[in-house]
Amino acid sequence: MFRAWDGYAGGMQTRILGRTGRAVSVIGLGTWQLGADWGDVTEADATDVLAASVDAGVTFFDTADVYGDGRSEQVIGHFLKNHTDADITVATKMGGRLGKLPETFVLKNFRDWTERSRRNLQTETLDLVQLHCPPTVVFQTGEVYDALDTLVDDGVIANYGVSVQTGEEALTAIARPGIATVQIILNAFRLKPLDEVLPAAREAGVGIIARVPLASGLLTGKYTRETTFAENDHRNFNRDGSHFDVGETFSGVDYETGLAAAAEFAALVARENADLTPAQAALAWVAQIDGVSSVIPGARSVAQAAGNAAAGLVPQLSVEFNEGVQELYDRLLREQIHPRW
Ligand SMILES: NC(=O)c1ccc[n+]([C@@H]2O[C@H](COP(=O)([O-])OP(=O)(O)OC[C@H]3O[C@@H](n4cnc5c(N)ncnc54)[C@H](OP(=O)(O)O)[C@@H]3O)[C@@H](O)[C@H]2O)c1
Repeated sequence: MFRAWDGYAGGMQTRILGRTGRAVSVIGLGTWQLGADWGDVTEADATDVLAASVDAGVTFFDTADVYGDGRSEQVIGHFLKNHTDADITVATKMGGRLGKLPETFVLKNFRDWTERSRRNLQTETLDLVQLHCPPTVVFQTGEVYDALDTLVDDGVIANYGVSVQTGEEALTAIARPGIATVQIILNAFRLKPLDEVLPAAREAGVGIIARVPLASGLLTGKYTRETTFAENDHRNFNRDGSHFDVGETFSGVDYETGLAAAAEFAALVARENADLTPAQAALAWVAQIDGVSSVIPGARSVAQAAGNAAAGLVPQLSVEFNEGVQELYDRLLREQIHPRW
């Protein structure tokens, strides 16, 4: 395994997070796992994951008001209270509490939701609030952006962005002057954002937060046909998309195809650098894309968090490796994934 002390001396790379103007670590931390939907994670383990990440140079946490109905935000709020010297940027999300109906994306609810997040995160001003994958029409509604501007004027939030399902939604949001960041699924099994979204974001100076970078763990290569997931894990209950967009579970790749693709990905990594785990190579591959501000793997243990952070130190991956990722996607996944997301 590639550890922090194996890398070059530079330490964790940082990038400017789009129009927020803030510097954040290129490997951040996703904290859905610290809320719910990934089996059980105790509060002590959740705090240890945050601490291990910060120790390894992570300065960016992604959360949401609905992760464990506020639990993820609360654990982070408590952690930050005890680590005031750590210069962490926290991105939360709002919009998931009332069924994601278009008519709920109004100033009154934004005020209620952000007040709750400010309480949970124990802060006066939220660093970054993202609309949490609302229906497509919300991205096209001028009043929504006006309401978000009002929150900035009121000092309740410092910046706002969006989390999206599709490239079209990303492009609609990027065209708005107040949007600081776009969060989108981008990983070796999800290449469509490279076509138009990344170039548009770079041009506009909008930050890209790359989520689900391990395809919900598939890209680690650790699962088999026999692997089982807990009843309260979305990789068990949402494989068919019955609870939320199936693209959020294994990146929308069906499990059988995902296992085959993951085995081929691991072989590419072994040829590239025997010291890298497939997880680290998968994260480094995303982090090295021009225009990506931060990659936010979820972690359920200290070992995962520390191993992932070390991906921020991985030297430039080779042209052959990049071509191998593209070839693998084109052959096994493009037909299933590209038309949809
Ligand atoms: N709509 C949205 O806005 C939205 C949707 C999805 C996610 N997100 C955000 O994006 C973050 C990341 O996405 P994600 O958590 O869904 O998926 P992910 O980061 O692709 O996968 C996380 C899973 O990968 C496995 N893993 C992580 N590090 C590992 C390591 N070093 N070695 C072995 N296995 C490792 C763990 O699986 P095991 O549990 O099997 O160990 C972990 O639960 C979330 O936490 C959340 O903050 C946002």
